[in-house]
Amino acid sequence: MNILSSSEFLSTNQPSVQKLLQNTQGYIIEEHGRDLVWNLFLRFKPEADANDLRSRLSKTAEWIVSAHQLIREVPSLVTAIGLSGPGRRQLRLPASDVDLKDGLHLRTSRISYHYVDGWNDPKWIAEDRCDAIIILASNNKEELNSARDGLASLLGPVADITLEEGFVDRGPKHAREPFGFADGISQPVFFAQPVEMKPYPTRYNPQAPLNTVLTNEVLPGTQEPGTEFGSYMAFVKCEQHVDNYNRAVEIVSRALNCDPDHAGALLIGRTKQGCPLTGCRPDNNDFNRSEDTDGLQWPFGSHACKMNERKDVGLPYGSAAFRPPRMVRRGVSYKDGDCVGLLFQSFQANLGQFEAHLWWAVQEDHPRNGSGLDPILGTGGDFVLPDGRKVKIPRLVTFRGGEYFYFPSIPSLRTLPSQPQ
Ligand code: HEM
Repeated sequence: MNILSSSEFLSTNQPSVQKLLQNTQGYIIEEHGRDLVWNLFLRFKPEADANDLRSRLSKTAEWIVSAHQLIREVPSLVTAIGLSGPGRRQLRLPASDVDLKDGLHLRTSRISYHYVDGWNDPKWIAEDRCDAIIILASNNKEELNSARDGLASLLGPVADITLEEGFVDRGPKHAREPFGFADGISQPVFFAQPVEMKPYPTRYNPQAPLNTVLTNEVLPGTQEPGTEFGSYMAFVKCEQHVDNYNRAVEIVSRALNCDPDHAGALLIGRTKQGCPLTGCRPDNNDFNRSEDTDGLQWPFGSHACKMNERKDVGLPYGSAAFRPPRMVRRGVSYKDGDCVGLLFQSFQANLGQFEAHLWWAVQEDHPRNGSGLDPILGTGGDFVLPDGRKVKIPRLVTFRGGEYFYFPSIPSLRTLPSQPQ
């Protein structure tokens, strides 16, 4: 059985899955539930020696929480690490990660220039580089401070380190992003749940094979083939313009003569509490398009529909048939003075999965002809109302910076000093 592409629902008790969980960074595939998420960005010093860098970075393997630990031991600090294309080059690792070579700035600018026209965060200016990201997640600020100090004494001699602090604003049931909507609800499901999932009424299937998020490790650290996996992360600092959001809500509510909460829900594609706009099912994930084929309740141009129109609805439960690309989202909020936003993070087996979503956002004819631009990820401009009329809304989000990273398997990280050059 190929564990990555298995269409069977894998149990975390299967021996091959256990091995995978021990070797894989937990942050990638398990929801960690911590409220503070600190992102340390490392810029290797130009004079730093590749062997010294490798040796120091390999010591961070002791800090990494595996998926196995995250599921079984509930550690209070969750740590994960990823390397960017420039970082891997300075470590003199083989340039086998074609995806990382061009970096997020160049790759997203090819999809639409507006993804980089506001790229002005000093940490992320286009010419700048970021070599590695270390994520620390905990509920305890003291613990984060002492972890950061520990990592700074290990890596400070070879890297400049900056911190991007993220936090989870806990709503009643889910995290809440700065426009006030429940977020992180719709995620692919990789493992059998303790209580067997009932098929959704519409037969939407959130289950996804592991090759949605994991790829075979390019530089394994052990001799056991097929047990080590890594994942690609897209990190984007997304500033959210709350005043513009409020204006957009007013424009839509005036045009439709509806209350502001409903107008906001039409932009996002869910209510603030996270309910789908076409039938609210118990776990908030079943949008029933068959009750709303013309998009009168759930607009085709709303963010949730642009990102996941649920095209796979109706495929047999557990089917391995083609599904549109999905990804695991781990975004958290940030606040820089008066600016607020989302530190968007997604994990996927292939960065094309992330880029497909950015592409859909700016295609007026996705998912249907005339759907319009995504109100969250588009440039602002026309938003298509459920009745087909268009209203002009301001821009709601600007990307301030970001990068692509590869999160290696834990044995690969541990054996970094002896990896080929
Ligand atoms: C500040 C920027 C963003 C905000 C405020 C935002 C907000 C939201 C909200 C409120 C939801 C609904 C809750 C949920 O299903 O979890 C959602 C869903 C989603 N968003 Fe975003 N988002 C942002 C950026 C992005 C980006 C950059 C991408 C990818 C390129 C993205 C992809 C998705 C996807 C895939 C879903 C799930 C759709 C589904 O399966 O129903 N979002 N977003």
